[in-house]
Amino acid sequence: MESYKYMAEPYKIKMVEPIAVTTREQREEAIKRAGYNTFLLTTEDVYIDLLTDSGTNAMSDNQWAGLMLGDEAYAGSKNFRHLEQAVRELYGFKYVVPTHQGRGAENLLSQIMIKQGDYVPGNMYFTTTRLHQELNGAIFRDVIIDEAHEPENEHPFKGNIDLNKLQALIDEVGPERIPYICLAVTVNLAGGQPVSMENMKAVYELAHKYGIKVMFDATRCVENACFIKHREPGYENKSIREIVKEMFSYADGCTMSGKKDGIVNIGGFLALNDEELYQKATALVVVYEGMPSYGGMSGRDMEALARGLYEAVDYNYVAHRLDQVKYLGDKLIAEGIPVVKPIGGHAVFLDARQFYPHIPQDQFPAQMLAAQVYLESGVRSMERGIVSAGRDPEGNHRFPKLELVRLTIPRRVYTYAHLDVVVDGVKAAWNNRHNVPGLRFVYEPPVLRFFTARFEPLK
Ligand code: F0G
Repeated sequence: MESYKYMAEPYKIKMVEPIAVTTREQREEAIKRAGYNTFLLTTEDVYIDLLTDSGTNAMSDNQWAGLMLGDEAYAGSKNFRHLEQAVRELYGFKYVVPTHQGRGAENLLSQIMIKQGDYVPGNMYFTTTRLHQELNGAIFRDVIIDEAHEPENEHPFKGNIDLNKLQALIDEVGPERIPYICLAVTVNLAGGQPVSMENMKAVYELAHKYGIKVMFDATRCVENACFIKHREPGYENKSIREIVKEMFSYADGCTMSGKKDGIVNIGGFLALNDEELYQKATALVVVYEGMPSYGGMSGRDMEALARGLYEAVDYNYVAHRLDQVKYLGDKLIAEGIPVVKPIGGHAVFLDARQFYPHIPQDQFPAQMLAAQVYLESGVRSMERGIVSAGRDPEGNHRFPKLELVRLTIPRRVYTYAHLDVVVDGVKAAWNNRHNVPGLRFVYEPPVLRFFTARFEPLK
């Protein structure tokens, strides 16, 4: 903590929402009812909800005012034009296809670009992104730098793509079998780790040498931009807006979950520069989402998203956000608790392997740790380990190197005092770590199992 001064909130509170305070007995009952899966807890069970930063944001007065200006025309809504304008101005893409959320855009992108037997390289997988690639016949290849798989490694841009791994894949399968590279900014499952501008540029140049497109997963692009400003030489005096614009100049398009750096509760889009791809996307969006001028969103939702995109590129907003996450991470580190370093953009990730070295990975240590943090404190977190990684096409568990629990900070929702409570909860789980048993499945769904699986403790 030393002399680092965390930024105070660059906003004040206009409306409050009471939250549940529970007893240990209530929580014991609740976690059993939820099958030891924090996704299956209800809001009434949860004190501080760090399950996700997705759609859990607090909108501004300006965004709420925008809701009242919803133009709910079936076609040609004014709010769509505002959204399109925001994406063109801030990200620089020509075409925008609104979708209900990020995975709606992933579905469209995967369908219009992937052929059976293609390969899609990416800087670590994300659950829904990879699943859409696989559902369309592609094989995902992780080309992130090795450092990303090491929780203690303090590389400042742990989200970077390893250009040698990318080149090796191109040499192995041929550029014609790689429809695009999926580059996520930041990398969620690596710990919210950023990609450097230098790396984005190098990936783009390498890809274009072979006629391969680069598609960003733009979900947390503003957080990535702020890390570039803080860490990459030459960017310290650039605005977030300038950095975001330059980042996207190294992409041919992007999928976006507006529920994160769009600071809204629902919404997303696919953005493209290529007219032919855009035509294909509009032909499909009407099947899965809605008219190309609303996709999966109402007019008011599009207005809130358009306004959120502008708010997100304000330096004070995003620097404070990163500071909140850093505050939680620094306090846990000071307590000797093992977390992924450096602290990422949207969350602090606990290293479950170090909490429970006695629990083998196929007895789901991170799943159990999330349950224990909840039991100790009423704080809800999320497993990001073997349960999230799921099974490979042959039906075997995928064993990811990282076995983590994510404490995810919603945007503009909690205060530093709430984060102190979280520290106490995690500390209690750390102090009581020794005799905690593993878990076994009681119910395992076929895909994206982490959402609805149920478990019980092993004897
Ligand atoms: N890409 C990344 C990197 C994500 O983190 C998410 C969602 C998506 C795509 C899909 O977007 O949810 O709007 O359909 N992540 C959430 C999370 C669910 O909790 O990390 P979506």
